[in-house]
Amino acid sequence: MTEEHGTDEHRPPVRIERDGVVATVVIDRPKALNALSPDVLRAVADAFDALRAEADAVRGVIVVGEGGRAFVAGADIRSLSTLTPEEGAESARLGHRVAAAIEGFPAPVIACVDGFALGGGLELALACDLIYATESSSFGQPEVRLGLIPGFGGTVRLPRAVGLPLAKELIFTGRRIDAATAEAAGLVARRFPDRDALLAGARATIDEVAENAWTAVALAKRVLVEAAGTPTATATDLEVAGFADAFRTEDMREGVAAFIEKREPEFSGH
Ligand code: CAA
Repeated sequence: MTEEHGTDEHRPPVRIERDGVVATVVIDRPKALNALSPDVLRAVADAFDALRAEADAVRGVIVVGEGGRAFVAGADIRSLSTLTPEEGAESARLGHRVAAAIEGFPAPVIACVDGFALGGGLELALACDLIYATESSSFGQPEVRLGLIPGFGGTVRLPRAVGLPLAKELIFTGRRIDAATAEAAGLVARRFPDRDALLAGARATIDEVAENAWTAVALAKRVLVEAAGTPTATATDLEVAGFADAFRTEDMREGVAAFIEKREPEFSGH
């Protein structure tokens, strides 16, 4: 078996760790700064598919890169170097499949960025619901420096996160911004001094979410994801449908009853 460049053949490039209601998807290819080869992309999509099967027990997912230098330094440039236009399109579709698996996951997904989040790495983070980052992290879409453009959703989700003018500036220049700048731009939700604080902060957020009706959290995520970028009338229709769906859940009956009866709710997830 030939070893993929930058991959330790003894370890799978992606693994899932479980800790209570929190699942962590670890991208483990540190020798290549966790670059997203097709194998890694498929493994990330498979990880979310596997977690979906136990969605009842998982209230939130952390995505993190191994090695302390990078979240993900982009799509794997070696894998891209020989592609035909048709294969390039296929590669982009694979990236979009990963984003769809994350956006379709019925609980919050937090990208914990500790180091470089570049190109496809930033696009992976943008597909997550929140980006938390260490102070020393940096962000950018450097594709034009390679003669490429963002292919895993950067032209779509970066403008939604930071506004069209800054997204254009970042994509046209390929420049990197630091975590403080990314936070000021709205790209990063919270900054942490180091990796331990980053992971603890993400876990604390998921624990806080887990106290709520997870049916409602999943419905809210569905509406937020599906409504993004749609015209106002479409978006409000999606919200009406999600609001109506909340009335189908036992959790909603329990949540409002508990408020009226002045007691703590006991949510069942149904
Ligand atoms: N693909 C493949 N390998 C990568 C990689 C990538 N995106 N990024 C880093 N690596 C590899 C390097 O080739 C190097 O491997 P070797 O040790 O075998 O040579 C190893 O990771 C360490 O990288 P560097 O030696 O370059 O480390 P550095 O500290 O000098 O620089 C860096 C770090 C600035 C992140 C630099 O590695 C870099 O610029 N990486 C590429 C970033 C990039 O252009 N990303 C966009 C990719 S295209 C894309 O993502 C398209 C899309 O939208 C889908």
